[in-house]
Amino acid sequence: MTLYPTEPTLVPLPRIDDPRGALSFLQAPHQAPFPIRRTYWIYDVPGGELRGSHAFQNTEEIIIALSGSFEVILHNGTVEQSWRLNRSYVGLYVPRMMWRTLKDFSTNSLALIVASTHYDENDYIRSFTDFRRLAGCA
Ligand code: TYD
Repeated sequence: MTLYPTEPTLVPLPRIDDPRGALSFLQAPHQAPFPIRRTYWIYDVPGGELRGSHAFQNTEEIIIALSGSFEVILHNGTVEQSWRLNRSYVGLYVPRMMWRTLKDFSTNSLALIVASTHYDENDYIRSFTDFRRLAGCA
């Protein structure tokens, strides 16, 4: 069981292979180290578009490429890391207080995001300057 990591972490998801096809799943607390309160998904992204470019003060997430591929770039105020997600049985755990950007979506890609909070615009930090200050890096 994953125990509340403070760093971004790739989370291997179960994959049940069967002659009829494969099945994967995500449940708390085994694969999602937080209570799941919301899911949303991003799709039909035109070539070259970016999503995200903000941080959350409290929300933790797991991002999965259910179809296609895209890049997730995470910045903790000091260090930037990136991952190309392209497997429906691997999630990326994103802790709170990470500046995050999703980009380079392949055609027909589908990003599923599982979140620890209900939607709250007040949880967003939309200025990178404010983010660095709140992260104690400014
Ligand atoms: P936003 O999180 O800014 O999108 P992205 O980070 O992918 O660029 O959300 C875009 C819009 O969708 C914004 O008006 C808020 C709305 N929204 C909801 O109403 N509920 C949700 O759970 C999410 C994630 C967004």
